[in-house]
Amino acid sequence: MQRFPALFTPGFIGGLFLKNRIVMSPMFVGYAHPDGQVSSELLAHYEARARGGVGLIIVEAACVDVPVARDSFRQINIDNPRYVAGLERLARGIKAYGSRAFIQLLHTGRQASSLITGHQPVAPSPIACSSTKEIPRELTLQEIGDIEEKFLNSARYANMAGFDGVELHAAHGYLLNQFLSSHTNRRMDEYGGSLENRMRLLLNIVQKIKNALPGLALSVRLNLDDFVPGGLELQESIEVARHLENSGVDVINCSTGTYESGLMSVEPASFKEGWRVYLAEELKKAVKIPVITGGMISDPAFANQVIEEGKGDYVFFGRTLLADSEWANKVREGSLEDIRPCIRCNNCIEHVFKGLMVDCTVNPGTGREGSLNHFRKKAGKKTRAVVVGSGPAGMQAALALECQGLSVSLYEKDEKLGGLLNLACIPPHKEKVAQLRDYLIGQLRKSKVEINTGHTYEISDLKENRPDYLIIATGSNPSTVEISGSKQENCLSIKDVLEKKIVAVNKEIVIVGGGINACEVADFCLEGNNNICIIEEKNILAIGMEKKNRRDLLNRLQKGKVQIKTSSRVERIEKNEVIISGKRGNIESLTAELIIMATGFTPSNQLFYEAQNLHSNVFLIGDAFEIKGFKNAILQGEMLARSINNS
Ligand SMILES: Cc1cc2nc3c(=O)[nH]c(=O)nc-3n(C[C@H](O)[C@H](O)[C@H](O)COP(=O)(O)O)c2cc1C
Ligand code: SF4
Repeated sequence: MQRFPALFTPGFIGGLFLKNRIVMSPMFVGYAHPDGQVSSELLAHYEARARGGVGLIIVEAACVDVPVARDSFRQINIDNPRYVAGLERLARGIKAYGSRAFIQLLHTGRQASSLITGHQPVAPSPIACSSTKEIPRELTLQEIGDIEEKFLNSARYANMAGFDGVELHAAHGYLLNQFLSSHTNRRMDEYGGSLENRMRLLLNIVQKIKNALPGLALSVRLNLDDFVPGGLELQESIEVARHLENSGVDVINCSTGTYESGLMSVEPASFKEGWRVYLAEELKKAVKIPVITGGMISDPAFANQVIEEGKGDYVFFGRTLLADSEWANKVREGSLEDIRPCIRCNNCIEHVFKGLMVDCTVNPGTGREGSLNHFRKKAGKKTRAVVVGSGPAGMQAALALECQGLSVSLYEKDEKLGGLLNLACIPPHKEKVAQLRDYLIGQLRKSKVEINTGHTYEISDLKENRPDYLIIATGSNPSTVEISGSKQENCLSIKDVLEKKIVAVNKEIVIVGGGINACEVADFCLEGNNNICIIEEKNILAIGMEKKNRRDLLNRLQKGKVQIKTSSRVERIEKNEVIISGKRGNIESLTAELIIMATGFTPSNQLFYEAQNLHSNVFLIGDAFEIKGFKNAILQGEMLARSINNS
């Protein structure tokens, strides 16, 4: 029996049959060719999600007006017939697997960057976006008319390419959203002022597309709340949606936030599962056309309930599907333990903003679908591999090696599998990291990998029973620092604190170091109502952390009144005191009942040095190779396994 019947009930958008209620939300991935043509990477990426059982794929935002409306160097273009051939392969590739294919149409407006477009951005009014900081040029009436035609032409090309539908991107602070919002639209003509006027551009485009292409399904991605002062709010958005329905729009795809609202479009890990559904629920009371809801949803039971309770007709999934392209199939089959969970680290969106191609911390296959996802077990003689260490690199390597047909033994010195994932999942809002750990452990237990816990693998093991390959993934240890007094009893490691070897409540705490781990441990200690001070030598905290999660974390530290002393050095530690020097050499003494040493980690690679003198096939991966976080560790584990030839 199907565990999630509502999610797998077929539905209709306009006259279009959809096999289930699972929608892949548009996600720009940067795999298109720099000239805007569809690439083989892009094809493989979307085909993998279609093969993975998604009912409707909305292909990422494509540019309707090159170059001025372009969002990125590697965006799909759709403003000229020369792109139709590539787009046709894309639509056909998606539909071959029984998914429906829409493509999103985008004009960036004032959120464009002249570094990318080579032009001053354009907008309803010359108001700079506080995030991009460029003052846009106000569009003339003639230009607005041209933009309506550009959207229509792009819809025509999508139709020629065989897409089932198009989606107008009227959310996230892009041009159509800019016209709708009085925060960005201060025009005095028929496109500004009243809501009726602000909707004019969007409704004109809808009408033109509906008149010219009645068979093409039309979706509008609409912000139900911009979450910026003076921006669109729910009641106005509902009014817009009513007009869209009356103009023939087939479905509303709900979203929130703009560049200026910061965290509200692609949320950091602290946001609750499906927190935005309340907005769609309100919209559903006002319109009859289907409503797509979503945002921070990965639990199939939650998604099923949303549909069952009529809070949305379809649920979109974004990052969940980057983390596991087979999510929908696994949910349908009920094999939830096989789902690779998204941990909301936002590395993917960070890549977008840096102009890089998207990849995923937990899924080495994202962006490499063409090669990795077609991987099948190879037959061949049994080759033995030993993997030492069961952190993310070791577990991923063991799984991938076993998948290649090798006979794999995994050794872990602790009684528990997981390595540093066991610590990384403890601070607030890191529950998803525990899900990732449990997923990897679950997969190992289901596999044929021989698991040896509580066994420190040593050179004697290697001599006694020599494998064909030895993979060393022994992780890292806390770095030791030469600070006078740092060995005293009240100086603790991050591990001591997170594992609650000492429970800190109502204490004066000084944290030595202001990196990501230090800030996360401060966040953790806030739960005990402690007074916390962070000392960091550099002039900023949590360097290297993804922007949205970093801002969210620093907001919490600020709210918790954590004192922050950057550009400061710890000179020495005395009994209940930490002596620091500031930028100008000024000395200060801080009361400290507990001192947490958070001065980073050092690779643990001694075994590698010893083993490579005895064996030619010894490999070092993960933190033991270089401390670069578990995205790198998982990728190295996967790639190493694939580089080993077992034929
Ligand atoms: C890498 C990335 C690229 C995105 N690109 C787009 C886009 O092209 N168009 C769009 O409407 N939303 C875009 N979004 C927003 C997603 O469609 C989605 O609304 C958001 O990620 C929240 O949903 P989730 O929690 O299921 O990921 C993007 C999000 C991510 C992570
Ligand atoms: S990069 Fe992080 S947030 Fe993005 S899909 Fe992967 S795990 Fe999720």
